[in-house]
Amino acid sequence: MDNTKILDITDSVKWIGALDPDLVTFDVVMETKYGTTYNSYLVNDSEVTIIETVKENFWPVYETKIRSLVDPSKIKYIILNHTEPDHSGSLKNLLAIAPDATVICTGNAVRYLNEFLGSPFPHRIVKDGDTLNTGKNTFRFIGAPNLHWPDSMYTWLEQEKVLFSCDSFGAHYAHEGMFDDLVGNWDDAFKYYFEVILKPFSKFMLKAIEKIRPLPISIICPGHGPILRSNWKKYVDLSEKYASEYLALPQKNRVFIAYVSAYKNTGMLAGEIAKGIRSAGDIEVRVCDIEMKSLDEIGAQIERSNGLILGSPVINQNILLQIYQVFALINPLRDKGKLAGAFGSYGWSGEGEKIITAAIENLKLKYIGESLFNKFTPHQQELEKAFAYGRNFGEQLLKQIENEGNN
Ligand code: FEO
Repeated sequence: MDNTKILDITDSVKWIGALDPDLVTFDVVMETKYGTTYNSYLVNDSEVTIIETVKENFWPVYETKIRSLVDPSKIKYIILNHTEPDHSGSLKNLLAIAPDATVICTGNAVRYLNEFLGSPFPHRIVKDGDTLNTGKNTFRFIGAPNLHWPDSMYTWLEQEKVLFSCDSFGAHYAHEGMFDDLVGNWDDAFKYYFEVILKPFSKFMLKAIEKIRPLPISIICPGHGPILRSNWKKYVDLSEKYASEYLALPQKNRVFIAYVSAYKNTGMLAGEIAKGIRSAGDIEVRVCDIEMKSLDEIGAQIERSNGLILGSPVINQNILLQIYQVFALINPLRDKGKLAGAFGSYGWSGEGEKIITAAIENLKLKYIGESLFNKFTPHQQELEKAFAYGRNFGEQLLKQIENEGNN
């Protein structure tokens, strides 16, 4: 693919992004069978402005594009709608060749960039409704938090009627055509991107769409994939539909018991805990030995459940790898406050309790306050305790749900 192209979006807006057709996975967890693009835009005005940058390894081609359009020392503003490294990765290099540039972003973005860059940088924090004039153009900033990080915002270019939406309305889809009317049908890539990146933030998506509906949009320039110059409405409508459908899913009370078991002891406890939970009321319980389960499957169960109980044996004073993988699949932004518990068996010492409960609290789940760890094989008395643990968990969960409903 030709990665040297610069595209005219409007009279003053140019696409200067990078195509990454060979990318196989994004953020380690997301398959990208069509590759992706890192969209960056340059707005040529009395005060030159760049919106988003590109992933760091595309810096050489990106720098060449910028230099072919402007003297970098003339860049006055770098607007960052979101700071994940696929958008901010070239910021450090860009600031080095644009010494007069100020980064325009949200307060959260400044906090994250301080970490990424490791040193102070010139910036201006903007809030919903703030504007920036660069000559003949005026940018207005639209708060769009959690799409897909808490730092996110949209940027609206009034005169050209262009909305820069970063991850929203984007897709991991690399095609040289770059415009929605030149790239064929990429609806499956759009849907998959929404499912993985934006769906957990559906509530925020609907709020953001409500804010942009009144705008006389001509073009949407997302951070990934095709530029929506012909049919932006279709992709906004699809995003609204996917988000609404997700939020309308019946909110059943569900507990996911994820465990691994070396000698069936932890598995026996899991079964009794499940029975106890079911005895507490109308709660669906999924008990799963996760040793051979895919991460996708485990992640989907965590997302769908409002209670989570993790069980592991203790081997060599540690819990098993599969439970650490569950920790990695918990998304505190999405799962915060879900009721959680811990159980397992051990032979010598009981480190499992400390390890699992600490992770539960660090990941912002709501620890039920007690765990159930048992030495060696559970007999009648221990199985009864497991049942009682489950029953109490079920009762607490129903109470929590009732309280949430009353608030
Ligand atoms: Fe495209 Fe959330 O970064």
